[in-house]
Amino acid sequence: MIRLIVSLSALLIAVSTPLADPAQDYADNCQECHGSGRLGSIGPALIPQTLGRMRGPNLISVIRDGREATQMPAFGDLLSDKQIDALSAYLKQPLDDVPPWGTEEIMASRELNPEYRPADEPVWSSDPFNITLVVETGDHHVSVLDGDTFETLDRFPTPFAVHGGPKFSPNGRYVFIMSRDGWVQKYDLYSLQEVGRIRAGLNSRNIAMSHDGNWVAVANYLPNTLTILSTEDLSVAAVQEIKGKDGTPSRISAVYQAPPRESFVLALKDVPEIWEVFYGPNPPHYGFAHDWRIEGPARHTKPFPVRKITTPDYLDDFFFDQSYEYVMGASRSGDGGQVIDLVIGHKIADLDLPGMPHLGSGITWKYGDTTVMATPHLKDGTVSVIDMKTWKTVKQIETLGPGFFMRSHENSPYVWVDVFFGPNKDVMHVIDKGSLEIVKTLRPEEGATVAHVEFTRDGSHALVSIWEDDGAVIVYDADTLKEVRRLPMRKPSGKYNVWNKITFSEGTSH
Ligand code: HEC
Repeated sequence: MIRLIVSLSALLIAVSTPLADPAQDYADNCQECHGSGRLGSIGPALIPQTLGRMRGPNLISVIRDGREATQMPAFGDLLSDKQIDALSAYLKQPLDDVPPWGTEEIMASRELNPEYRPADEPVWSSDPFNITLVVETGDHHVSVLDGDTFETLDRFPTPFAVHGGPKFSPNGRYVFIMSRDGWVQKYDLYSLQEVGRIRAGLNSRNIAMSHDGNWVAVANYLPNTLTILSTEDLSVAAVQEIKGKDGTPSRISAVYQAPPRESFVLALKDVPEIWEVFYGPNPPHYGFAHDWRIEGPARHTKPFPVRKITTPDYLDDFFFDQSYEYVMGASRSGDGGQVIDLVIGHKIADLDLPGMPHLGSGITWKYGDTTVMATPHLKDGTVSVIDMKTWKTVKQIETLGPGFFMRSHENSPYVWVDVFFGPNKDVMHVIDKGSLEIVKTLRPEEGATVAHVEFTRDGSHALVSIWEDDGAVIVYDADTLKEVRRLPMRKPSGKYNVWNKITFSEGTSH
């Protein structure tokens, strides 16, 4: 009887609201490609964490019109406007529950390329340390460039929506690439082949490579975990749940490696804590919260001791000094910063950093008898230059708008910084490292977003992205600041030179 009433009322509801049942429409039309829990399959995950950047009508028009030259079909003829509106609102709702994504599930996602054949030597004759990768987000590919001739050696598909910088193994042979949906892809630059991929998280921020080349750490938002993979075969070494000292679950803002400390350092997003995870043979003896053991194959069994440091404020983004003892963090409110000493585990200085600095793209250089660190601001047209001995601001350089990336090279007298937001997003500033003045403002293509710079190994050339679907990488002579080549690319974002990355060039972020 009760069952009858329930199904009767369900029927009544169905009759009175016949137009939109987004969960059902999803199951009928989208699930086969976007996964049963909206967590992705052939198509990407459709969850607020990933759709947040698709504002207003964007999401609706993708569903209605599909995406040309991809497997995403148009639903305008199949679903009414009301159904599409409801579906788009439904996709922006948080998931009711996040499925477990531990060692077992992650391992089950691993796909090793059966055609992969390791090559002892590169199958090309370029300088292996001057290889430069270009991430092309327009159609989810990476181009492998010879850094001397700028010829393309290969162009390979990546998982959907690469996020954060790819990381090279210490000898520059392999590269690990992470996507927003948590896939980690391993690619062999010698044989120009994918080795395999594995889904280390469901929604992820960035990865870090241990300096010994043995481990890749993956910072996840969903679930609240840090995944450590063996670089050798992408097997899971550990999955650590992230909870603050008081038990509050937290996402990870970012993870970086601290080579002299043989540790990964991560900032938590929802709890004011920094964690340090040691992977070396001799972790320091102080301050461990607990040990955790690797669950992977027996030969990997070893503990990863974790140290948790409470900080006065949340750290959304951070930067290390060259000794990796000091962490410079931007505060969440966006109007200041702090310096944390990792050895003593305390804040030692405040930073005058307004306008939400983008510390993840900060760089350093010698300035007089000190070293300065510079970072663009995400909320105002300023670059802050900070003395790393006194932690005082040396100069705030005014730019034509908020910037995102900043780069230099040991052999270059200049620092390059983009304007990423606002009406002047087609501008790239070149700043003199000595005078701290803007010496040139480049505008290579009126109206096009121009962003992110990477240098060649010797610093003689600077590569700049025209960040548009029908975009390009422009090669500049780094001394004369003249354009020498233009390589067509599909929405190129970051570019990564093997040498500058594996030697931790002071001109690049890590
Ligand atoms: C046949 C497979 C397939 C089906 C069915 C499908 N999609 Fe897609 N969808 C894709 C693929 C593949 C992409 C990635 C396209 C690209 O490369 O930009 C995509 C992309 C999207 C995107 C853009 C996501 C982003 O982050 O850029 C949205 C939104 C989307 N789909 C919604 C839907 C909805 C809603 C449905 C059901 C009404 C649906 N899709 C059905 C394959 C599919």
